[in-house]
Amino acid sequence: MDIVVLGSAAGGGLPQWNCSCLLCRRARAGDPLVVSRTQSSLAVSADGQRWVLLNASPDVREQITRTGQLHPRGGGRDSPIAAVVLTNADVDHIAGLLSLREAQPFALMATRRVHEVLAANPVFNVLNPRLVARRTVGLDEAAAIAGADGEPTGLTVRLFPVPGKVALYLEDPAAGPELGTVAEDTVGVEMSGPQDGARFFYIPGCSRITGDLARRLDGAALVLFDGTVWSDDEMAATGVGAKTGQRMGHLCMSGPDGSIAAFSGLNVGRKLFIHINNTNPVLAGDSPERRTAEAAGWEIAVDGLEIRL
Ligand code: MLT
Ligand code: MN
Ligand code: ZN
Repeated sequence: MDIVVLGSAAGGGLPQWNCSCLLCRRARAGDPLVVSRTQSSLAVSADGQRWVLLNASPDVREQITRTGQLHPRGGGRDSPIAAVVLTNADVDHIAGLLSLREAQPFALMATRRVHEVLAANPVFNVLNPRLVARRTVGLDEAAAIAGADGEPTGLTVRLFPVPGKVALYLEDPAAGPELGTVAEDTVGVEMSGPQDGARFFYIPGCSRITGDLARRLDGAALVLFDGTVWSDDEMAATGVGAKTGQRMGHLCMSGPDGSIAAFSGLNVGRKLFIHINNTNPVLAGDSPERRTAEAAGWEIAVDGLEIRL
């Protein structure tokens, strides 16, 4: 199984269009220690021929352009992208669907809830219903991924609920502290290939590591996990916003209740942070936070990284 990190940043990317925080300024200036990143997404293939996207980021056009494996082959219109799997309905995970129009068949797989959100917004009808097969995946069901034509990709996906939050534009303050969030709003992905042991987890949004989640991840060869913020109050501390990581549905990396501590007792072969916000100091190759994360066995995902399992 081949995995390509198409994008490693959280919503907004690095640099973010309207941000002049230190990290965005360094990235914009071309500082080699703060490399630019597009918004988080992976491409996965069992055979190197047919590919599955995990989320469709607003940067998908650029991501496809710079990833040779995803280029059209032969003459005329073509794409090796057989399917797209969504982990939630956040803008940074669905906006790229609008760039995947142009009468191209593929399968679109998500929870019932995420499909309802897309169905309620007519702009997604640009995905021609005669060509794009919208398939609902039940929670914790092993679903073989096939293209719109029914041809299997050799990959199997399992979507499981993780603590998180409904998409920002659907928040309902009248619905109480959970803002109307339901279990199917945010899921993690377990992806398996046809070979034994080719299996990994992609969890770009998660606000808490429950006992169930820890047991699920223990023993995994590879986990790509929510790296949005280093500390819960980092947006306020860097002066770019008031929301905490928790308020946005994201668990911070540092501290006794953070993800680094939560993973320290788990046996995971390779751990990468992905969906990293432009305020997160781990993005700087010369930061003490980067050294701390790396010393704890974490890698900071970068765009273009390729992993073979
Ligand atoms: C998030 O990850 O919290 C969302 O992408 C935020 C957003 O939609 O801007
Ligand atoms: Mn996001
Ligand atoms: Zn910034």
